[in-house]
Amino acid sequence: MRRAIRFVVALVIGLALVTWVASVLVNRTTRDWFEKDVNLRADLAVSGARHTLTSHWSAAERAYLFDRLTEIAHDERIMAGAACAADLTLLTKTKDYPEGFSCRELGAHVRPATDSPASAWKTWRKTYELPGGDVHITAIPVVDEKTPLGFVVLVHDLSFAARRESTTQRFILLAFALLALGASAVTILSVRLSWRGWNRDLQLFLRGQSRRPEFQPILRDVRDLVDRIVDEKETDREGGPWTPERLKQTLNRFLRGEKVVVVANREPYIHDRARDGGVTVVHPASGLVTALEPVMRACSGTWIAHGGGSADRETADANGRIRVPPGDESYIVRRVWLTKEEEQGYYYGFSNEGLWPLCHIADARPTFRNDDWKHYQAVNERFADAVVAEVDSDDPIVLVQDYHFALAPRMIRERLPRATVIMFWHIPWPNSQRFGICPWRKDLLDGMLGASILGFHTRFDGNNFVESVDRFIEARIDREESAVVQQGRSTFVRPYPISLEWPTRWAKTSPAVDDCRASVFQELGLPADALLGVGVDRLDYTKGVEERFLAVERLLERFPAFRGRFTFVQLAAPSRTAIERYRQLNENVERVAARVNERFGDGRYRPVVLMRAHHEPPTVFRFYRAANVCYVSSLHDGMNLVSKEFVAARDDERGVLVLSQFTGAARELTEALIVNPYDLDEASAALATALQMSAEEQRERMRAMRAFIAEFNVYRWAGRMLVDAARLRRRDRLTGRLSDALAVGGEQVR
Ligand code: G6P
Repeated sequence: MRRAIRFVVALVIGLALVTWVASVLVNRTTRDWFEKDVNLRADLAVSGARHTLTSHWSAAERAYLFDRLTEIAHDERIMAGAACAADLTLLTKTKDYPEGFSCRELGAHVRPATDSPASAWKTWRKTYELPGGDVHITAIPVVDEKTPLGFVVLVHDLSFAARRESTTQRFILLAFALLALGASAVTILSVRLSWRGWNRDLQLFLRGQSRRPEFQPILRDVRDLVDRIVDEKETDREGGPWTPERLKQTLNRFLRGEKVVVVANREPYIHDRARDGGVTVVHPASGLVTALEPVMRACSGTWIAHGGGSADRETADANGRIRVPPGDESYIVRRVWLTKEEEQGYYYGFSNEGLWPLCHIADARPTFRNDDWKHYQAVNERFADAVVAEVDSDDPIVLVQDYHFALAPRMIRERLPRATVIMFWHIPWPNSQRFGICPWRKDLLDGMLGASILGFHTRFDGNNFVESVDRFIEARIDREESAVVQQGRSTFVRPYPISLEWPTRWAKTSPAVDDCRASVFQELGLPADALLGVGVDRLDYTKGVEERFLAVERLLERFPAFRGRFTFVQLAAPSRTAIERYRQLNENVERVAARVNERFGDGRYRPVVLMRAHHEPPTVFRFYRAANVCYVSSLHDGMNLVSKEFVAARDDERGVLVLSQFTGAARELTEALIVNPYDLDEASAALATALQMSAEEQRERMRAMRAFIAEFNVYRWAGRMLVDAARLRRRDRLTGRLSDALAVGGEQVR
């Protein structure tokens, strides 16, 4: 409305200006017309009386001339007249002839020079502005044959012209004023009508009911802009590093502090029955757990997981719930109980003999069994049911984790259509050709597309996923938005590189570096001047443990100076030992270690120390802090958090990381020595370089990597996903589509 008023004011000013210019132009034109008119009349009057005038043009006939002039002056425009002789003396003048227009004065204009020829006499005219009104003087020569006799002066009253001009001006003003009023009224009316129409269309659009296609691009741009601005504000408002507090505040501010529900196969705290009859709490060796557990401590909520520990049932309540972390309870673990068959089919079978090798390029053949698939489906259903039991609203935020639950996002959406489901895939995604070998490829993709957001560690993995969708199922790929659209509903595919809590709890609570070194060296029986390399992994064929030992062997071959001095210790957590391929790996690793020790060791010196057991985080961090070098040789790894843990452990800014180029981490920790673990010459050379690196260079590299992890920590990882989820929820609320979904009985109609 304000705009309309402003527009009308501008319109009125504009019209006033136009009116003024118009009236000036009209005045000038009408004045021209009037002058032309009086000139014509004067000429006609004199030429009509010419004969009479010339035959009586003498002082003697003054009386006669007076009568003729008086007759001429009867014309309504002529006020008075005079007759002037050739010598510029007055012959006669009518009664009202004004003072000041003498024959001598006017004659100077009519008769140029005394002896000039008759043809030089010219009619002369001029308008004078006098106090009583304008007068127009016309002086017309009177010529008898070729002899000029004198001239007649006619005085015209032009005050009528001024009167007419002001009348015309008033008329024009009135006309323009009416025009301005009319135009304003039309403008206001049309603005109101179109505003109302626009408003209605906007509302319709926001409700998802607009049929006007021209609104779509504009509103999409506006929405994107708003999203961007809000997103920037959300991400940057507090600035500084991401901390548990900031993550908590993000949840409170943008998601109204909603409870977060995590679905992950592995639980963060496993209760096991110890040999002495007591119960021990185990922190499992799992990158997923390492990353997610601090996030849950910050956010609270519920973590739904397989209760696999031997004392899990007795430590949980009747609903399988237990508050954790032990002694510092801040969130809930909800345990789902699986039968031996379910665990075999879903976990060992389809997840770890099917999907795990399918997604990793690590020389293991995926095995797909129909029975495993059935268990996988059933267990995904069980977890989706558990989600429904755990949520406290109909639009919860559910974070589904990893390849164990590819079907769960769709199942959760069927049960809770308004849920915001974020799925994070912790392992790599293969290219579409490889993915295509899975008999249930379509079901897997469709299940995952039930999520609102699909996260991968790298854009590369996300692109592979989108390529698989493009190849195997009916869906539109929105490359601009990086989304897959099915029946109008989008799943956004985004990279969220995972990380660690910062500062890392275990680093903070570790003994001083010297003490760690002393205790580890003592444990391994190493002399004080020994050089120590460390590897920390689950015993998994994707981790390249055999290749690591082979690289150590090559190092000792090529660089004899390290023989007797360099020891590589491998902390190897047994993993998935029910699977044949893992059992083989165990044997292979042992065999290679034994061979290297035999070749380069003696009774006292062992180049490779294989510590095959589960190690709790304090032990792992003690080894990280004691080592000169950490070698991460994964053959294929989504991210690899061991590399980040090693960096986090080294608050002394010493130690060198040698890192496989086939990890997601290699894209971030660029100050590590990046190697191809299959290339034993390159890997062994990197180990040699690391062992000889100056303290200064170690510090420089370590400082840069620590700064990176400090900034890109796991709170940022979770925060960015939750902020994206908040954006989606806001967008969904804005478009009102969620309520539409409910209205049609939970059908997906976005
Ligand atoms: C990888 C997977 C995790 C898994 C971890 C340990 O990091 O991405 O989901 O928890 O391995 O494997 P496990 O089978 O022992 O849980």
